Amino acid sequence: MRLILLGPPGAGKGTQAVRLVNHFGIPQISTGDILRKAVKDGTELGTLAKGYMDRGELVPDEVVVGIIRERIAEPDCERGYILDGFPRTIAQAEALDEMLKKLKGGIDHVVNIAVGDEEIIKRLTGRRTCSSCGAGYHILFDPPKKEGVCDKCGGKLIQRDDDQEETIRARLRVYRQQTEPLIAYYKRKGLLRTIPGVGNMEEIFEAILKAVEEPDKADK
Ligand code: AP5
Repeated sequence: MRLILLGPPGAGKGTQAVRLVNHFGIPQISTGDILRKAVKDGTELGTLAKGYMDRGELVPDEVVVGIIRERIAEPDCERGYILDGFPRTIAQAEALDEMLKKLKGGIDHVVNIAVGDEEIIKRLTGRRTCSSCGAGYHILFDPPKKEGVCDKCGGKLIQRDDDQEETIRARLRVYRQQTEPLIAYYKRKGLLRTIPGVGNMEEIFEAILKAVEEPDKADK
């Protein structure tokens, strides 16, 4: 199964991707995670990406398209993958279409997780991530057992640099201008399944499964 998770920053793409990975046994490909790792490791890619990410802007299309081209050609992607945070512009979606034509395997579903702006601000200002294993938490909605400590590995929980309110609002503006047009793009292709992204995380996961298993009944 080749799946795209679409939605504004903080919609729950990463949260749901973890559940989908466990369920389908296919990898999650998060361009955000790949870029953050490059920044942490101080690579050339990381140096290039950091300024854009800190300002809440998108990294240039050719850079992320190159990352995806290499990643989906790896052997663990043969049975499918979950794209989280890619594509984010029409140019990226068109580049992906071209790549997949050559690989002879198109996208099966685009799951659009819909969440309003004020909920997003609450989610992202309260998000914490394990600096060691990358597990995600929320100080109110999904807190760790011990404040500041990862339940899974005991690592230190940190706040992402781009989760300050001003940067979140910039990311939301970028989402509306550059990424939201993908909803119409994938609707035209008959691939869009829209899920309300507010409420219990497990119920949202069940709704995603239902939408991909019974796409004819899903909201388009
Ligand atoms: P990226 O890392 O992709 O960030 P994003 O799209 O802004 O998405 P987030 O990771 O912030 O949110 P999410 O939807 O995964 O939500 P999560 O599950 O964590 O990108 C970062 C930057 O990298 C970009 O700004 C850009 O610069 C660059 N970049 C990346 N991809 C790019 C591309 N393709 N092109 C160009 N540039 C690119 O949930 C958020 C919080 O809410 C968590 O705390 C979670 O616990 C909580 N939560 C989740 N679900 C619920 C729920 N149902 N109820 C209550 N709380 C919930």
